[in-house]
Amino acid sequence: MGWYEDEDLWVGFAEVMFPARRTAEAERLLAESPLLKVAAGDRVLDLACGPGTHVVPLARRGAVVTGVDLSEAMLARARRACEREGVRARLVRADMRDYVDPGAYDLVINMYTSFGYFTDPGDNLAVLRNVHDSLVPGGRLLIDVMGKEVFAGWVGRPQAVDVDGGTVYMRDTVLDDWTRLRSDWTWVRGEEVRRTSLYSTLYSAAELRALVEQAGFTEVECFGDFDLSAYDNHARRLIVQAKRA
Ligand SMILES: C[S@@+](CC[C@H](N)C(=O)[O-])C[C@H]1O[C@@H](n2cnc3c(N)ncnc32)[C@H](O)[C@@H]1O
Repeated sequence: MGWYEDEDLWVGFAEVMFPARRTAEAERLLAESPLLKVAAGDRVLDLACGPGTHVVPLARRGAVVTGVDLSEAMLARARRACEREGVRARLVRADMRDYVDPGAYDLVINMYTSFGYFTDPGDNLAVLRNVHDSLVPGGRLLIDVMGKEVFAGWVGRPQAVDVDGGTVYMRDTVLDDWTRLRSDWTWVRGEEVRRTSLYSTLYSAAELRALVEQAGFTEVECFGDFDLSAYDNHARRLIVQAKRA
């Protein structure tokens, strides 16, 4: 089983990964970011949608939203979030390596480091090829990950995050000559201790650009934040936008 197939990881650590402030942050990004601008009626795929963080504000703006995720528990949360907020979205359980819906979308987003999960580089490329084929000609891809250059600025410093009567300790280890990352998370609440490890590919901007181009995309642009700022020494994220010709 791949680490990302472990439901206990996404559910057990949801408080750390999906705190309430991320919902507010997603609302703000949708309202302000030129990269996340959608018009009513736009067909948008949120690939690896998680608990619906971006599905809800997208649907609120009138987009016709599909959220795809492998985790049934995450999709259930997304479904509840849509019901609570009175919006509609199609929620599909699928592996991003397999999901393709030819020419079905104007925009595909993949947010919050939900890309590069697979050890075989061919699998990560397959995801991009699926996205390419799922877009209409002229359609847009947006990927938001922690770029290798950004990550290099703070790697090595373990973090402790307080959550609901406990603390989550996070420690990162760079693997395989800076190509992959393992994040070890330990949740301590009284006598209870829970551990998990997450793995992802560490892409530099040049590496992710090359992969996106290999998948057939054109007009590839890299940004350091959602406000269109440059991917430079001040970058906070690596955001790649590309188009299907
Ligand atoms: C870091 S979370 C991000 C969720 C969401 N994009 C957000 O911004 O909150 C990553 C998500 O990827 C999903 N995921 C992991 N492996 C997947 C796969 N092979 N196919 C589809 N989704 C997957 C997980 O279930 C989880 O919901």
